[in-house]
Amino acid sequence: MNDRFVPRTTPADDASDPISRPAPRAAATAPAAGSCGAGGLAVPAYLSDTYTWAYLSDLGTRVFDKHLIVQAILWGNADRLIDSVVAELKPGWRVLQPACVYGDFSLRLARALGPAGRLDVRDIAPIQVALTRRKLAGVAQATVDQEDAAAPGKGPYDAVACFFLLHEVPEEYKRAIVNNMLDAVGPDGTVIFVDYHRPHAAHPLKPVMSLVFDRLEPFAKALWNNAIEDYADRPGDWTWTKTTVFGGMYQKVIARRRSQPRVTRPSRSCI
Ligand SMILES: C[S@@+](CC[C@H](N)C(=O)[O-])C[C@H]1O[C@@H](n2cnc3c(N)ncnc32)[C@H](O)[C@@H]1O
Repeated sequence: MNDRFVPRTTPADDASDPISRPAPRAAATAPAAGSCGAGGLAVPAYLSDTYTWAYLSDLGTRVFDKHLIVQAILWGNADRLIDSVVAELKPGWRVLQPACVYGDFSLRLARALGPAGRLDVRDIAPIQVALTRRKLAGVAQATVDQEDAAAPGKGPYDAVACFFLLHEVPEEYKRAIVNNMLDAVGPDGTVIFVDYHRPHAAHPLKPVMSLVFDRLEPFAKALWNNAIEDYADRPGDWTWTKTTVFGGMYQKVIARRRSQPRVTRPSRSCI
């Protein structure tokens, strides 16, 4: 039985201890009441409580859904990070993007997959689904629908592109999402996580990001302390390849299924 969907009704626990080790799986509880999309899914409390300004308001979507803004938020690294995801994809692949991303991320993925491929963009927030549908109108290989990344039963896909989602969700959601993304690919599948990472100690922007996370993004700093593979139930079943960029501030982690599962943790490479 798959019991990985562990939605929260309040972000308070994680906000008070955002850098704790990944928690063991909790029992499933009902999602908090919130606005529902056509799929009937409620927007989780952590999202409406923490991120309405960024993802759930008309103003937020108008302000942030511009490539230049995305570039600025990522200190000029958006293009290199998006390019590094695109470089992992092959034309004709079927790919899951479990959460919407501002700017032209989805369009670039869809183009890389070509007309023979398929990009399934999903998001828990109805306003984001509507926005991304407009951006991908006319792109035949793309579908956009409401779905919770923490809900099991996706795929099988050739690849998953999980771009800056994990830092925005509480710990048990991180665990559920990581495991669901791993479950969503077939035996030769590739799971790509791009997200924040602990910058080098002397990184001049580290204090700035620390302040931003403390004030606005309470679930982000956990990724400064925990490896993404730490959230996997069976990390030894996968090879984990991590590269970091911009003085360690961002990470790309590629997970591929091992043919022979291992128990010990593999070493990681850093650039
Ligand atoms: C991918 S992240 C942010 C990426 C990046 N900051 C950007 O440029 O947009 C933002 C999206 O994650 C979505 N999201 C949050 N929790 C989710 C969940 N459990 N399932 C699916 N989507 C989720 C939010 O609705 C939002 O649209």
